[in-house]
Amino acid sequence: MSNKTLMLIKPRAVKNNCIGMILNTVNENNFRIAAMKMLQMTKKQAREFYIVHKDRSFYEDLVDFMTSGAIVAVLLEKENAVEDFRTLIGPTNPKEATEGTIRYACGYDIQQNAVHGSDSPENAERECNFFFPYAERF
Ligand code: CMP
Repeated sequence: MSNKTLMLIKPRAVKNNCIGMILNTVNENNFRIAAMKMLQMTKKQAREFYIVHKDRSFYEDLVDFMTSGAIVAVLLEKENAVEDFRTLIGPTNPKEATEGTIRYACGYDIQQNAVHGSDSPENAERECNFFFPYAERF
């Protein structure tokens, strides 16, 4: 069981004023915000963050989108964080998401799907360290 996960609020959701609603949903579902920052990623950072997708056809498009504006990176803590957060956000494609999920409420399409959530405890460890070295956590 993993107790932490990384959420990224993606550029379109930031532009659409969804930050408050998303953070509220996260808190209402008993996740603790252990670290948070707003930033605009460089292409180099985005390529590295999404390196597991480097051979996928959508990789460069995804990098362009994720660097197109500000994002919010949030380190979330809760028992069973990875799995519970993936349930809360819903499937990758918002068109398949059900009411009550973050991607249903704020997602636009499969790429601009409002939020990223770590997909395994191993990736959560890597992704949390990517944005938040241990000293930056509360
Ligand atoms: P995310 O949770 O950030 O992890 C990888 C991202 O790649 C995913 O959300 C989507 O934004 C994007 N993605 C996954 N599959 C596709 C696809 N088939 N076409 C375009 N983008 C995709």
